[in-house]
Amino acid sequence: MVDATGTRRADVLVAGGRVAAVGDDLDAPGAQVLDAGGCLVAPGLVDLHAHLREPGREEAETVETGARAAALGGYTAIVAMPNTEPAIDSAAVVRQVLDLGATAPCDVRVAGAITVGRAGKALAPMAEMAALGVRLFTDDGAGVQDARLMRRALEYASALDVTLAQHCEDEALAAGGHMHEGEWSSRLGLPGIPAEAEELMVARDIALCRLTGARAHFLHLSTAGSLELVAAAKAAGLPVTAEVAPHHFTLTHAEVAGYDPVYKVNPPLRTAADVAAVKAALAAGVVDAIATDHAPHAPEAKEAPFDQAPPGMLGLETALALALGELDLPVERVLALLSWQPAAIAGLAGEHGGPIAEGAAANLCVVDPAAAWVVEPDLLASRSRNTPYGGRKLRGRVRHTILRGEPVVIDFEAQR
Ligand code: DOR
Repeated sequence: MVDATGTRRADVLVAGGRVAAVGDDLDAPGAQVLDAGGCLVAPGLVDLHAHLREPGREEAETVETGARAAALGGYTAIVAMPNTEPAIDSAAVVRQVLDLGATAPCDVRVAGAITVGRAGKALAPMAEMAALGVRLFTDDGAGVQDARLMRRALEYASALDVTLAQHCEDEALAAGGHMHEGEWSSRLGLPGIPAEAEELMVARDIALCRLTGARAHFLHLSTAGSLELVAAAKAAGLPVTAEVAPHHFTLTHAEVAGYDPVYKVNPPLRTAADVAAVKAALAAGVVDAIATDHAPHAPEAKEAPFDQAPPGMLGLETALALALGELDLPVERVLALLSWQPAAIAGLAGEHGGPIAEGAAANLCVVDPAAAWVVEPDLLASRSRNTPYGGRKLRGRVRHTILRGEPVVIDFEAQR
């Protein structure tokens, strides 16, 4: 068993949706037994960043298919991003997505939009969304460009005790770009997005945090410069947190060489030096969470030419194995980055992220760290197929997932 309190060997007994006992050789006549031999029992994973596409783009994903992919990936809670159609920018749409998630095999929470329609012009009714339990707000897919509006949003968020999460991208500087601006964009003749388009907004928002005293969370950071800025802000005591996505510590812009849109993502795949900086920032504790940025797109959209295809990659079913395999970190640290640290950022601590102790909510995953498997896009539970890891051999897989005491994945198979 691995949780924020440490690592030990024990049986876990679950009853009535809660952990009933933790101890040696527990005996519970009549109980269903899930074998965890050779495995790690951990609090369920928590994803701060999943695009579930409902309402509006159900051809790419639904709350149900996204939640099933999440459960298979070991997640017991995911935060649905608001760049749906319509955007999640009102209590009515929040309610709709929460209702769709009520029967899903993973706890589905919602991030509300910061601005109406994510258009960056007027603040969305954050208070009415917060009243429904929304704890994170973002215009993800776009950053809030107007510094004055962002200042107001931070002040408002502070009063509501919610967190703003920023997609850091200066649109004017990034305009027209399809990949990282550098050696490969020059070779391939594709317009680039400079690292500075991200870093300018990270720097601006750190300044706005200092001005307002409000918390800010930085989504999917991808450059060495961004991570340096966050490290300095943390050292100065500012209340900032940051996440990175698995593709930014496993892939570089060189992957775009064949113009395959499966490698198109925003922020774009960066240089080998940026990948090294992401890994170093994870090891140094500058980064608080690994978030998937699971971004399903239907084949007909993703099979367009590179400059016309939408950005985004699947992530929920591969994140844990990539983190276990590619990061030179102890498993306890990997689980902290995937479970209890994001749970705290999402305001879910207490329900998700452990610790595994008597009376705690039984949201658990059982990880087989030795399980070798090959990513087969056609076998993924997501409704879309746009994984950049198709054919890749990974090690480490979720054997069982338990949501509120119910096994929703048993022996690598979804139960519903
Ligand atoms: O690659 C991306 N895809 N980045 C984003 O910020 C949005 C996302 C999407 O919604 O497809």
